[in-house]
Amino acid sequence: MTYDALFQAQLDALKEEGNYRIFANLERRCGQHPCAASHTEDGMQEITVWCSNDYLGMGHHPAVVEAMVEATRDAGCGAGGTRNISGTNVHHLALEGELADLHGKEAALLFTSGYVSNWAALSTLGARLPNAVILSDALNHASMIEGIRHSRADKVIWRHNDPEDLDRKLSAIDPARPRIVAFESVYSMDGDIAPMAEIVEVAERHGAMTYLDEVHAVGMYGPRGGGVAEEAGLMHRIDLIEGTLGKAFGCFGGYITGSTALCDFIRSFASGFIFTTALPPAVAAAARVSIAHLKVSQAERARQRRQVARLRAALDGYGIPHQDNPSHIIPVIVGDPVKCRMISDVLMDDFGVYVQPINYPTVPKGTERLRITPGPLHTDAQIDHLAAALNTLWKQCALARQVA
Ligand SMILES: Cc1ncc(COP(=O)(O)O)c(C=O)c1O
Repeated sequence: MTYDALFQAQLDALKEEGNYRIFANLERRCGQHPCAASHTEDGMQEITVWCSNDYLGMGHHPAVVEAMVEATRDAGCGAGGTRNISGTNVHHLALEGELADLHGKEAALLFTSGYVSNWAALSTLGARLPNAVILSDALNHASMIEGIRHSRADKVIWRHNDPEDLDRKLSAIDPARPRIVAFESVYSMDGDIAPMAEIVEVAERHGAMTYLDEVHAVGMYGPRGGGVAEEAGLMHRIDLIEGTLGKAFGCFGGYITGSTALCDFIRSFASGFIFTTALPPAVAAAARVSIAHLKVSQAERARQRRQVARLRAALDGYGIPHQDNPSHIIPVIVGDPVKCRMISDVLMDDFGVYVQPINYPTVPKGTERLRITPGPLHTDAQIDHLAAALNTLWKQCALARQVA
């Protein structure tokens, strides 16, 4: 048997289940978001993107684009090294200062993605704090799960968004041990938001450290885009806030913020920080401009909220079921991987609407969904077109409707 045959057998099984991932080959054009072109074997098609995590369109914001172009001209393309060996640049330090200020913390530390920041920070905390226990929300992101696993620390899973279960689980652990409560603010696939005040209160009562992933909230929540913790007035009560530069800030990279000692500890011991080339300076420059803009501008957040509400109302008008949550993420559950892929394909082919199907293992089997993320740059006409297209498909596929 050749190795390729071994690979192919597993790929065939994935295809059989309907869980094989097919990427849309997009041509994004600067300044035209959320419009783009989709390339297939049959040619090119103009489409509207409805599943982007460039939530506010900042990846195409003229000031952000200009910052990246200008910094590339000034500083060149790559950082030229790891942070330790010639790769630290004035743009990195300026961005770390901007991020520490955003979250009201003493310090910040950049990573090459949000995934790497979670993986590196949690694996280092769990491995280096003697006899640590990490208490992880049941629906935490893969990057947190992998970081915790890699740390080899004891792990306790608490029921999703359930502070009482967290309280019970913390009560059963020796208070002399370091305990880290790891959770997210906005959960990306269901769009639900953690009961943060209650979680923080429980952690504080037990003397546990808090680790918060705000990847799907930074830029969009809070008066300066500091996330749900800022909106709730809780930033100062959370020990470590982690985020991404790749979603609402429209760029690339990840970070943690916290005390000077905490960031220095991760900087000094995390292999995922130390042994990799630093972010390109131009990416750091662009991200800093994006963050600074969203600290003072409410326009993008206000318009995003309006368009989210408008799409929810349009779906309600047709009885298209969508999960009720307080965030900007609208999950439309299909509940079958093959149907989910088919609906997505027809939306693209017949209506020029691109919503990627979300299947297992990203979500549990039986909850396959279309995850729709309206942004400030979607027009009312585009929203009406999407809702009408879904209505046509719901009719064609005889899918269940929601009665008001
Ligand atoms: C909750 C959560 N944390 C972290 C990440 C990783 O962030 P990045 O895309 O910057 O690697 C994601 C990615 O989608 C995420 O959903």
